[in-house]
Amino acid sequence: MNNELRVEKGSRCRLCGGQVEESIDFGPQPVSNAFILPTEVGGEPFFRLALGLCLSCGMAQLLDEVPRERMFHEDYPYRSSGSAFMRKHFEEVALSLVEEELTGPDDLLVEIGSNDGIMLKAVAEAGVRHLGVDASRSAVEVATAKGVRSRVDFFEESTAAAIRAAEGPAKVVFSANTFSHIAYIDSVFRGLDLLLAPDGVFVFEDRYLGDIIEHNYFDQVYDEHFYLFAVRSVQIMAARFGFELVDVEPLRVHGGAMRYKLARPGARRPSAAVSEFVDKEARLGLADPATFRRFAAGISRTRDELLAVLTDLRAGGHSVVGYGATSKSATVTNFCGIGSSLVSFVCDTTPEKQGRLTPGSHIPVMPPEAFSDPYPDYALLFAWNHADEIMAKERRFREQGGRWILYVPDVHIV
Ligand code: SAH
Ligand code: TYD
Ligand code: ZN
Repeated sequence: MNNELRVEKGSRCRLCGGQVEESIDFGPQPVSNAFILPTEVGGEPFFRLALGLCLSCGMAQLLDEVPRERMFHEDYPYRSSGSAFMRKHFEEVALSLVEEELTGPDDLLVEIGSNDGIMLKAVAEAGVRHLGVDASRSAVEVATAKGVRSRVDFFEESTAAAIRAAEGPAKVVFSANTFSHIAYIDSVFRGLDLLLAPDGVFVFEDRYLGDIIEHNYFDQVYDEHFYLFAVRSVQIMAARFGFELVDVEPLRVHGGAMRYKLARPGARRPSAAVSEFVDKEARLGLADPATFRRFAAGISRTRDELLAVLTDLRAGGHSVVGYGATSKSATVTNFCGIGSSLVSFVCDTTPEKQGRLTPGSHIPVMPPEAFSDPYPDYALLFAWNHADEIMAKERRFREQGGRWILYVPDVHIV
């Protein structure tokens, strides 16, 4: 049997219009954050998850686009503030933007994808003028309760025009883990052009393609991550839409991310880091077909090994539960074929996910208290990006003989 992922040729690049020469097909997948009620089993929509790579501009992108209203809506359950590590990260981001960029008395910061206010909370507390824009009403309500000004909307050209008319120009537009979710970048850039002050900056951070490929983070590929950015592709994107990439900074969040700063051409001198990363990506062959094919081969290997480990453990009578009902786990469970016979339940702190089933794979989601009641023999860590925080919090699990199963960068038990 050939278990290799199908690598096929396909479609046009959403950035440069070139041919997307390489792609990895993960097969049919559900919407990654569509946690369903037991009564809803059988009614889920599936789409084809396929990651393509444009060899001309280096932009990695999905070949099929899930309509945005299907992903982000009233019931979108993702809440950013579930991790203490991420809360600290975004507080630092907020304070550095306030200190370095928002120095005028009336400067405005707009955030795209502000979710539960994890970043804007500290901006609001510093008394700085701000506005969050997020497509999920329930997430915005949590932000509002924290004193964060935000509106329910998809950011695009018309939203930017409305904000500009009501609030004036923005000194900073910030976005974390959201710009990659928006397939229609041309409208977003027209919006940024309308909204940003002449000396304003667009700062965004997102998972970094270099880390994803280097560490085999294949589960970062899911419906919401329409683009997987690299420094070179962002540089090309900025130039194409009338901006300039002036700084980049690698980040330790989500297993490896990058912060990009864009300004109007000539407004700021690009830092040396930009060309250093562009050179490094070229040296490593990040946008080479051979690199992409190695990534595909590593994904097939991980799937086979993970399935073998789980099947053996269950056959040996061991109990296995999942930890962290992440968006990433939708790709892992559906692509690898992991259901509740292999992983009995997944525990997660998000109330909006508890009592529901994981999309497509239908594993029950339970509150974290279920983890120790009684402890399982093994725990599959879907939230591997929070390994330090979770393993510290669940220290007793290991002390009494439990073991963690990790599947990145390869399948191993600790
Ligand atoms: N910035 C947060 C949230 C990321 S999740 C963090 O880094 O943790 C992505 C968020 O973007 C969701 O809350 C979703 O509702 C929102 N979103 C998705 N597309 C959007 C768009 N076009 N405009 C505004 N918000 C959007
Ligand atoms: P996240 O890492 O943002 O993953 P993704 O972007 O793939 O959705 O989400 C982490 C998930 O793990 C979230 O649902 C909350 C949960 N979680 C816990 O249950 N316990 C914890 O201690 C932490 C840090 C997260
Ligand atoms: Zn391209």
